[in-house]
Amino acid sequence: MSTIAIIYFSGAGHTHLLAEAIAEGANQAENTTVELLRITGEQITNGRWKNDAIIEKLNQADAIVFGSPTYMGGISAQFKAFIDATSEIWFKHGWKDKIAAAFTHSSSPSGDKQGTLLYLATNAAQHGMIWVNVGDLQSFLFGKDDGINRLGGFLGVMGQSPLDLSGEEALLHPGDRLTAERFGYRIAEATNRWIK
Ligand SMILES: Cc1cc2nc3c(=O)[nH]c(=O)nc-3n(C[C@H](O)[C@H](O)[C@H](O)COP(=O)(O)O)c2cc1C
Repeated sequence: MSTIAIIYFSGAGHTHLLAEAIAEGANQAENTTVELLRITGEQITNGRWKNDAIIEKLNQADAIVFGSPTYMGGISAQFKAFIDATSEIWFKHGWKDKIAAAFTHSSSPSGDKQGTLLYLATNAAQHGMIWVNVGDLQSFLFGKDDGINRLGGFLGVMGQSPLDLSGEEALLHPGDRLTAERFGYRIAEATNRWIK
């Protein structure tokens, strides 16, 4: 039995929906349990993130999937506060050889999402983790219109929806949801192979 932990921050809800879609996909794999863990601003005091219960769950997981909205071309401050807190784990290389993967959401078609994913991959490398990328080519290359990997991101899943200041509930593009579900399944399958 493998455990996939999905740790993320989401302000307006889009990254949360991506996290849920990844969890749904991972749950389709056999012998897999999924933990959805959300970073909040309330977990940060004087700029420092601390939550022993979340860290314990991450320590127990076989795979950790990192998610943040793209803010100013990189990860959000809340998610960075969490990552900085994991430097204590880095000192012992406590997450070495766990599976890692990442996802992000932004409002612009590019929005510099690559900056977010590059940083999250760098963080995983510092921890000695094993990176899983997006395994799907853009389905439009094959004449399909289901939107799978419509943004052509391979380092991790990218989601995009236009900035909505109306206060309406966040929505995901259906293609991004499908991409995230398939990503979750791929991560779970890779984790099961890795821990065998
Ligand atoms: C402080 C801040 C910075 C942002 N910077 C970017 C950016 O660099 N590129 C972009 O496309 N969108 C940017 N956005 C828009 C968010 O990426 C977008 O609203 C995203 O969907 C938020 O995810 P969430 O709903 O999970 O909070 C920014 C939003 C905020 C609040």
